[in-house]
Amino acid sequence: MFRFAARAATLALSVCWCVSSSASAAVMLAEDTILIGEYGSMTGSEATFGQSTHNGIMLAVEEQNATGGVKGKKIAVQTYDTAGQTQQAGTVVTRLVTADKVVAVLGEVASSLSLAGGAVCQQYGVPMISPSSTNPRVTLTGDMIFRVCFIDTFQAAVCAKFAKENLKATKVAILFDQAQAYSKGLKDDFKKSFTKLGGQITTEQAYTGGDQSFNAQLGNIRDTKPDVVFIPGYYTDAGNIAIQARKLGLTVPLLGGDGWDSAKLVEIAGKDIEGCYFSNHYAPDEDRPEVKEFVKKYHEKYGQVPDALAALGYESAKLLFDAIGRAGTLKGKDIAKAIAETKGFKGVTGTITIDKDRNAKKPAVIVQVRNGKPTFVTALLPD
Ligand code: PHE
Repeated sequence: MFRFAARAATLALSVCWCVSSSASAAVMLAEDTILIGEYGSMTGSEATFGQSTHNGIMLAVEEQNATGGVKGKKIAVQTYDTAGQTQQAGTVVTRLVTADKVVAVLGEVASSLSLAGGAVCQQYGVPMISPSSTNPRVTLTGDMIFRVCFIDTFQAAVCAKFAKENLKATKVAILFDQAQAYSKGLKDDFKKSFTKLGGQITTEQAYTGGDQSFNAQLGNIRDTKPDVVFIPGYYTDAGNIAIQARKLGLTVPLLGGDGWDSAKLVEIAGKDIEGCYFSNHYAPDEDRPEVKEFVKKYHEKYGQVPDALAALGYESAKLLFDAIGRAGTLKGKDIAKAIAETKGFKGVTGTITIDKDRNAKKPAVIVQVRNGKPTFVTALLPD
């Protein structure tokens, strides 16, 4: 059984979550509709990743259809839940490309899941854009796989520089999720960057996403007396880790990557995460006109402040529509060619030029949790 966004020929915007055991929805599509696939974690411990991304995508679809769609056709989206499970990602992307016959796929957020879904898209020649998977390997899967965000070699360098220069840390301990490509990669890259800057990694401790107790690892970390603890994981675990760290008397600043970005982080950890930092793709309080406009539109539609997932979901969809508009036909290879040729595309989180590895080079921000809100501290530009 899969959950998906209900749609009809002209009602691409309805976002009621229905449960269906069949993939026959595609036959309801009218001739004048272009079907896009989306896969994301709508449920599970990374649920806000999928939900925010979906909201961003549907805002873009609504805007596009209001101005006539693409190539004179309306856009419709078929969405499946991965529940944050790698195997499920492979299953639902296979369904999108073989049963629903989507022209392109948007997703996933978590890098491990994009690696699984990307392999399927590559095999069937269907272009995929990950809004937010940052592990370098994701787009190396092949010439059908793109992303609109920066990669973790850059994100790691940003975190290392911030730890060294702004937090004046010389000794950093790391606690990472050994089950996630994102977390392992970001850990390795951070280690390289931080030691290159003359810093020392006091210890590397591992957990597995969903673990309930981090006491053993945090005790080991505390014994090495670090200035900062780097936790390149996802928000549910990071929140639980913060609570347990403070209980053990580990009071130094905690530093994370984009995987911390969820309103749930503060809901889980409350005051225990206050004052901590993480790198991200944008901050909603940034003083840039594109950010202000997006935050306003998103808030009007959903009554929430958009996180980075929402912003990246929105711009992945916008960029895809732009590429489809320029593509000679709706064939996979033609859409992929148009995506690859994207230059100077103005997004919310930055200007996107797709490079030869099908990645985007963009600035990163560091935010600090202040009064329970991720607050802009500084922006760092790529070389
Ligand atoms: N970059 C993370 C990954 O690759 C996903 C993520 C992006 C999470 C942005 C939060 C915000 O797994």
